[in-house]
Amino acid sequence: MASSSCFQSSFRTSLRTIITQSRPLCLHSQRLSRYAVGSRRTISSYGYTQAKALVYSKYGEPQDVLSLHRHSISPAAGTSVVLRTLVAPINPADVNQIQGVYPAKPEMTIALGTSEPSAVAGNEGVAEVISTGSGVKDLKRGDWVIMKSTGMGTWRTHMAVDESQLLKIDNKEGLTPLQVGTVSVNPCTAYRMLLDFAQWGFRGDEWFIQNGANSGVGRAAIQLAREWGIKSINVIRGRENKEEEQKLRQDLLDLGATKVITEEELTGRGIKDQIKEWTQGGREPIKVGLNCVGGKNATALAKFLSPGAALVTYGAMSKQPLLLPASLLIFKDIRFNGFWVSKWSDRHPDQKKQTVDDVLRLTREGKFKDIPVQECRWGWKTEVDTLSKAVQGTLGGFRPGKGVFVFDEA
Ligand SMILES: NC(=O)c1ccc[n+]([C@@H]2O[C@H](COP(=O)([O-])OP(=O)(O)OC[C@H]3O[C@@H](n4cnc5c(N)ncnc54)[C@H](OP(=O)(O)O)[C@@H]3O)[C@@H](O)[C@H]2O)c1
Repeated sequence: MASSSCFQSSFRTSLRTIITQSRPLCLHSQRLSRYAVGSRRTISSYGYTQAKALVYSKYGEPQDVLSLHRHSISPAAGTSVVLRTLVAPINPADVNQIQGVYPAKPEMTIALGTSEPSAVAGNEGVAEVISTGSGVKDLKRGDWVIMKSTGMGTWRTHMAVDESQLLKIDNKEGLTPLQVGTVSVNPCTAYRMLLDFAQWGFRGDEWFIQNGANSGVGRAAIQLAREWGIKSINVIRGRENKEEEQKLRQDLLDLGATKVITEEELTGRGIKDQIKEWTQGGREPIKVGLNCVGGKNATALAKFLSPGAALVTYGAMSKQPLLLPASLLIFKDIRFNGFWVSKWSDRHPDQKKQTVDDVLRLTREGKFKDIPVQECRWGWKTEVDTLSKAVQGTLGGFRPGKGVFVFDEA
């Protein structure tokens, strides 16, 4: 998540846009009602945009605290732009943030005219520019943008943002909104964790190992590693239905996984010899471990790292603490690190652009496949229950795909 200062500044911008035009806004909210009957128009002839946002004013389970707030957005002025959201994914961190258990807390404000200070949920997505203020330099109507940082509240049909908060997609040719709307969190996380925690020779004789291999991050890591000539051992949760499990293994192998094993196999007999055989008796080093899960699974995984390797923790899906044997620190000099894409993107905006561009290049070339998704269509008449149910199910696991809001045109 973005630091709260980024969040505040994006909201201050929205607030400024609305407040500077507060008189016409009030006047106009009456006129807008004309458009709410019959054929609805998102933008009135006065330039005001009708919008709906999934907001929360207290922490809790999404189905209990999310509400749908309708408001209107003033015409773009100065360096602000008005956006229409195309796609916004539902990531585990978004749910944790609504529950109040995520370290980055949103600022609750009344900027959108809610009766209580509220935050708009969601942190990732792609939007289309529908209008620009006279001071906007680099964006024009029809451009696609993603958020420069997280914490900007993407689960809304429209938003007003200062152009400085946005990354323009320079070349959207051959890309879908889903591909662009899911590029900035998971693929960037996988990309940086693989590249920034080890020195690679890129000769095809090095490995990484990961748990949570079926997650969005895991799938991205498999594909990037394949592209860079890094072999992978991928740990998944076994399925009761063995046919389903086999299908999942095959899915990951088709993406470019070198080996796929279940959590049970990781801790079972024989795996030590098996991994030794795969890595040519250890001559092909396992240089990085990616830990999405924590608990015993992560401990087991860490034991297969080569001396001097890094275990990078980025998630804690099992909600179990990380237990690390002292011997790995003392005798194998394993480095234990964490990674948080929000902090990284705040610190390295240029690197973020390069990383996003590179993943989108691979996507355009057909070398980086879409994640499996469960679409939740969001139209003007979609009820809050439909939207909050899609959010609520996110942490359940064993899902056929990541939840994503796909916004209707109107
Ligand atoms: N630190 C960062 O910068 C960063 C960035 C992105 C994501 N993340 C974190 O990475 C994790 C995955 O995110 P994502 O968006 O990639 O997730 P996702 O696509 O929604 O997938 C969630 C994954 O978690 C697995 N899982 C769920 N409960 C589990 C459990 N009890 N034990 C083991 N595995 C479990 C699921 O396994 P099944 O396939 O078996 O259901 C699934 O593969 C989350 O914790 C997220 O917050 C962190």
